Amino acid sequence: MKISIIGSGYVGLTTGICLAELGHEIIFMDNNKEKIEVLKKLEIPIYEPGLKELLIKNKDRIKFVFDIKEAVSDVIFLCLPTPPNNNGEADINSIIQVSIELAKIIKDKKTIVVKSTVPVGTCEKIKQIFGNRANVVSNPEFLREGYAVYDFMNPDRIVIGVDNDEAKRIMKNVYEKLKEKIIFMDIKSAEMTKYAANAFLALKISFINEIANLCEKTGANIKNVKVGIGSDNRIGMSFLNAGIGWGGSCFPKDTLALIKIGEKNGVEMKIVKAAIDVNIKQREMFSKKILNYYKDKAKIAILGLAFKPNTDDMRDAPSIDIINFLLSRNFEIKAYDPKALKNAKQIFGEKIYYASDIYDALKDSDGLVLLTEWDEFKNIDWNIARKIMNKKIIFDGRNFLKPPKDFEYYGIGLPKE
Ligand SMILES: NC(=O)c1ccc[n+]([C@@H]2O[C@H](COP(=O)([O-])OP(=O)(O)OC[C@H]3O[C@@H](n4cnc5c(N)ncnc54)[C@H](O)[C@@H]3O)[C@@H](O)[C@H]2O)c1
Repeated sequence: MKISIIGSGYVGLTTGICLAELGHEIIFMDNNKEKIEVLKKLEIPIYEPGLKELLIKNKDRIKFVFDIKEAVSDVIFLCLPTPPNNNGEADINSIIQVSIELAKIIKDKKTIVVKSTVPVGTCEKIKQIFGNRANVVSNPEFLREGYAVYDFMNPDRIVIGVDNDEAKRIMKNVYEKLKEKIIFMDIKSAEMTKYAANAFLALKISFINEIANLCEKTGANIKNVKVGIGSDNRIGMSFLNAGIGWGGSCFPKDTLALIKIGEKNGVEMKIVKAAIDVNIKQREMFSKKILNYYKDKAKIAILGLAFKPNTDDMRDAPSIDIINFLLSRNFEIKAYDPKALKNAKQIFGEKIYYASDIYDALKDSDGLVLLTEWDEFKNIDWNIARKIMNKKIIFDGRNFLKPPKDFEYYGIGLPKE
């Protein structure tokens, strides 16, 4: 099939390149000309493992365009941003604008697939724009950045909201090779599923963090408690790692948006509000733990800036709040991240030092603060660290490191040694 992808960011690129791998012909469109030029050179403007290789492999089936008029196919995926507006609602402006533009240029009936995370009722609004000249389908995305290609090719489920058999048949053809994983449902339920999934995962993390804080006060060990509760298959082990909490491009904005959807419909989303509250406090608590230890300014090596490993994405990363807090208390920051330094520079500018590797960050530091659990940090050579650090102190925001006993070590929810 010929498929267009409007919006070539994390979701659009993954969707389109993987659909090309499944055999479809893909036209990518983006209103960022620079991005399209980079993509035409077969470069990927984001860091996502495996994506570049798949792009090169399938390049003969892939085209990149800047003009939306050249991006019309029978099936058009909308992979556009839905950032929070000033009061926390999802801003669906770019989706509406692109739909209006498309409605002006399409001649015969198309299928519009909404992949962006959108409030319940958005597809209905889009339907009104196209009238009977389009099937409008909700197909929310569940990929994890860092594992996006794997997740697309090996989905737990593909949720598709449709309101007619023609749309259902077309979507079965789009996902022909993965069709056993499709769950068809009505459009509003598909839109709601995405928010419910993200909110549930966010509150699982906030829950374990709250228990971790109590462990720290009582002398229990959150790692043991995790195994104790996660072994119950009604609960499960995933999303039960205590730490500095969640961030990224989805959980923060989607939980806020869900609260707003609740407000509009007269339903207070109390649990989701609590999950956000715990998450904000988790960052503060960790920052204060560092401040209370040093009392006064210190030179700190930060390892990990991205909101999670295997991505360069810095959107709402816990590192932003933690570093800004430490800077406001006159700490000196030397930071290293394997992939996110470029994006970090746009946030912190000249305010911090960007280290070229782990040891450049650790050199002459008064302590190591780990914020993202990149695999690379498992292999820190502690003999070198011992020699080049001013003080052998570690604050591990992800309970990830296993330093030798002569290092002073503070994790999250762990008993004092
Ligand atoms: N990133 C994730 O892990 C993830 C996972 C699931 C769902 N989502 C959802 O998918 C959607 C897209 O997220 P993303 O992370 O890919 O965003 P992104 O910012 O990485 O990509 C969006 C792209 O759309 C382009 N764009 C913006 N306005 C445009 C317009 N008018 N015309 C054409 N292109 C335009 C931007 O230049 C950008 O390249 C959001 O609704 C998000 O909530 C994201």
